[in-house]
Amino acid sequence: MSDKIVLAYSGGVDTSVAIKWVPEKYKMEVITLTVDIGNVPDLDAIKKKAENMGVKQAIVIDARETFIKDYCWPALQANALYEGTYPLATALGRPLIAKLLAETAKKYGAKAVSHGCTGKGNDQVRLDVGINTLAPELKIIAPAREWGMTREETIQYALKNKIPIPATKKNPYSIDENLWGRAVECGILEDPWNEPPEDAFVWTRSPDKTPTKATYIEIDFEEGIPVGLNGEKLDGITLLEKLNKVAGENGVGRIDHIENRLVGIKSREVYEAPAAVVLIQAHQALEEMTLTKQQLRFKQNVSVEYSDLIYNGLWFSAMHQDLAAYVLSTQRFVTGSIRVKLWKGVSMVVGRKSPYSLYSFKLATYDKEDIFDPSHAVGFIQLWGLPTKTQVQLQPVMEKNSSLNSMKVKKKNIK
Ligand code: ARG
Repeated sequence: MSDKIVLAYSGGVDTSVAIKWVPEKYKMEVITLTVDIGNVPDLDAIKKKAENMGVKQAIVIDARETFIKDYCWPALQANALYEGTYPLATALGRPLIAKLLAETAKKYGAKAVSHGCTGKGNDQVRLDVGINTLAPELKIIAPAREWGMTREETIQYALKNKIPIPATKKNPYSIDENLWGRAVECGILEDPWNEPPEDAFVWTRSPDKTPTKATYIEIDFEEGIPVGLNGEKLDGITLLEKLNKVAGENGVGRIDHIENRLVGIKSREVYEAPAAVVLIQAHQALEEMTLTKQQLRFKQNVSVEYSDLIYNGLWFSAMHQDLAAYVLSTQRFVTGSIRVKLWKGVSMVVGRKSPYSLYSFKLATYDKEDIFDPSHAVGFIQLWGLPTKTQVQLQPVMEKNSSLNSMKVKKKNIK
């Protein structure tokens, strides 16, 4: 009996071709694993598709709830945006897929696992590191990293072998999607000067075709997790689906990013992430109300580290656990509601309230309810400015040679 291999099967070009290519090359019996994190419209259909291609067993797992609860929500609580821009949809999905691949391989006594990542991307790193961490005994086969076919050749291979694939010459993009967002690569997008054509977008309407009237939505959060939309309590899946729809209809959530990949390449990435974009914005707005200046400042630094770590495939690291623990601790009072205005591709926070709000009307107002005592400001200003005042008196030389002055001199020279 030949060894078994669990192959991550999405129904996309590379994994479809792999179903035929792997047993041919490695003489192993293929078990496919399809993980639905919001990317599989019909799990039964994909199971049948794999079975029709003659695999030993086709396993499908609906992991949407786990994905949202254990991956998307913690990332939202951290306001995770890679390079301040990309909400990390693909990067968040990979560790979960790695985990399920490892678990399935163990369950079925497989010696190897396989995925469809190429040798140029981040996804191979995320999956391989995840699998090596959770199940180091497994051999990893990444056919698209080995076979050396161009995308066009891969498509030709599929056509020749009667393998059903979604991409044709007319649809040249490489797509990865889940409930947190949709990534589009390849084709005409590879020239960063080209504006992404409308056919690259599926979840979002072009702002010149969106409603002329603004849409207002209200998002309820409990401890940093969205639990309701427009006053209605919703489970995570429904909430994300509804929010992707309404924000997408208003053209919100398009991202065009020149991204620094872990493998050293700059790549042009186009994303659609309507729900993620609005939720991160709303969540940040609620944190502005409920966290102190110092908490917000420190959390921003954590967010950068946290986002990098997820992007770089270190989900299963102790560092991740430590940062996540900090983030979780900051969320105990991040409860309340945020009102967002969606209009012509723009989302804007226009209202916020929280039972734990640190915003005090009585302190902020210029009206007669004011309880702030301005006489306290005088002494405070004396002490606040004391070190600066002292320094200028004792180190006058600082001023003459200050870097600001020398910069001015340099600028003059350039002229
Ligand atoms: N650049 C993004 C990332 O590294 C998205 C990758 C999308 N993958 C794909 N096969 N289209 O997370």
